[in-house]
Amino acid sequence: MNDIINEILKLKKEKNAVILAHNYQVGEIQDIADFVGDSLGLSQQAAKTNADVIVFCGVHFMAETASIISPNKKILIPDTEAGCSLASTVNADQLREWKLQHPGAVVVSYVNTTAEVKAESDYCCTSSNAVKVVEAISREKRILFLPDKFLGQYVSVTTGREMEIWNGACHVHEKIGDVNFDEAQAQHPDAEFLIHPECGCSSACMLKSQLYFDCKNTHIFSTEGMIDYVKKSDADEFVVATEIGILHRLKKIKPAAAFYPLNEKSICEYMKMITLEKLYESLRYDKFEVKVPEEIARKAALPIQRMLEIV
Ligand code: 13P
Ligand code: SF4
Repeated sequence: MNDIINEILKLKKEKNAVILAHNYQVGEIQDIADFVGDSLGLSQQAAKTNADVIVFCGVHFMAETASIISPNKKILIPDTEAGCSLASTVNADQLREWKLQHPGAVVVSYVNTTAEVKAESDYCCTSSNAVKVVEAISREKRILFLPDKFLGQYVSVTTGREMEIWNGACHVHEKIGDVNFDEAQAQHPDAEFLIHPECGCSSACMLKSQLYFDCKNTHIFSTEGMIDYVKKSDADEFVVATEIGILHRLKKIKPAAAFYPLNEKSICEYMKMITLEKLYESLRYDKFEVKVPEEIARKAALPIQRMLEIV
């Protein structure tokens, strides 16, 4: 293990490369990365790095976003099969058709979309800034929000704004909603509940709190929002509703606290495709370069730029 780590560090220096990793990556990848964060933080890092090569330890749409933001850098992803079930729920043809049905509407696309879909969009957003992005759009305008229905519902409730919402979901987060949230609250009455807005359970909680249920100690955050919350919180028990890769980082931040996954089966197999061996191969042989065609990259850069200006 130490050999491969040393080789990766050596290659990284030789090639002036930076390793960016998402919060859901396996522990070894998080530990060797130069930066670990959520989709927004990773985009911001990709925009400001001076490195010549960015090795993206995450999923394909994240590497594409880095390539759009930094077209002159070499962007590598260690496994091209690392996709995203949510991004696959909508393609550019479907979006063009949807826009035709709602002329004049403003399109807000979650960052979990392909470059082609971003190129057809007005604004991009991530789970940490979706509310701010929607609030920056005139209330006169109709909004088409895609592709995540749970995030869309969360944004709609929070901003008090009706939107057209695409019927997409992430296969990992959608199933978190299957577990009994009330039971978990009864089991951990003193715990803080941290919920990603892509979860089916986030909507259940929102709807209940609107109607009759007290969702106390429940907070809806992006993955980095969870990290920031735990850093500041005095609590020593947390129930976490998102992909369980984040527990590695949370435990490092607060080793004395207890972290329970709301659903321990919440594993994104795409995120887990990146291994130390593949990261080594990627740096050694420049595998696999992600390059967005120029015309699409030019159009997709605009909604990303607008988002980065808002946050
Ligand atoms: P974050 O931006 O909150 O890290 O979410 C990315 C993602 O893919 C969630 O499944
Ligand atoms: Fe996509 Fe879901 Fe995996 Fe996030 S957890 S990368 S939304 S499939």
